[in-house]
Amino acid sequence: MRRPLVAGNWKMNGSRADAGKLLDGIFQGADSVDETEIAVCPPFILIPLTADKLARGSNVAWGGQDLDTHTSGAYTGEVSGGMLRDYGCTFVIVGHSERRSIYGEDDATVASKFKVAQEHGLIPILCVGELLEEREADQTETVVARQLDAVLELCGIESMEQAVIAYEPVWAIGTGKTATPEQAQAVHAFIRNKLRELNSTIAGGVRILYGGSVKAANAAELFAQDDIDGGLIGGASLDADEFLNICRAG
Ligand code: PGA
Repeated sequence: MRRPLVAGNWKMNGSRADAGKLLDGIFQGADSVDETEIAVCPPFILIPLTADKLARGSNVAWGGQDLDTHTSGAYTGEVSGGMLRDYGCTFVIVGHSERRSIYGEDDATVASKFKVAQEHGLIPILCVGELLEEREADQTETVVARQLDAVLELCGIESMEQAVIAYEPVWAIGTGKTATPEQAQAVHAFIRNKLRELNSTIAGGVRILYGGSVKAANAAELFAQDDIDGGLIGGASLDADEFLNICRAG
């Protein structure tokens, strides 16, 4: 009923040559993945190359890692949703924990990025997740609820029909420390139940990805959980074979 999605978040990695090789590898292997929808989110500057390589008959979508809240104008250094659409992006990541913590994006900024993404026909992949100290203080649900509420209050529950949520516990990102399938499932169920209070059909349809040190070796048991509908993959998405094996686990 919910088609699994595995999206690669390359972060700020890769030369043009590296990206070319990686995209060729993914392109070639993606045909053998039927079940799972596949997407890659390269750095902005590699999106034209990505569009070029993947537009020719591949079943892999692509997206941005961020976008600006404005549509166009005097915003030096920024990239708009319209520009991403112009290069064929389907998805855009919003509110990644690195954007929140390193670049100071608060819940309101993330919510307006989510809104502007949809206004441009992009599917936002909304990242939520708690810090280690928040988990230790038993604040996980409070933090995740606050991050979701900012979007729900601005955009409404209907917006979740054209969105993806990624639960990424910050302590698991790039650390090699994956949440256990049970820990992840508990938060995914919390997210879905929270949405269910507003609209059970929409809650049942929204894809909730897990992110944080997913590898081919741990993907299957994570993705087997009832409310885990795929993954947002950082480090492991830089290796075509590893990434495709994660896709096959979906
Ligand atoms: P990781 O990153 O897979 O390298 O932990 C995940 C992410 O940041 O989306």
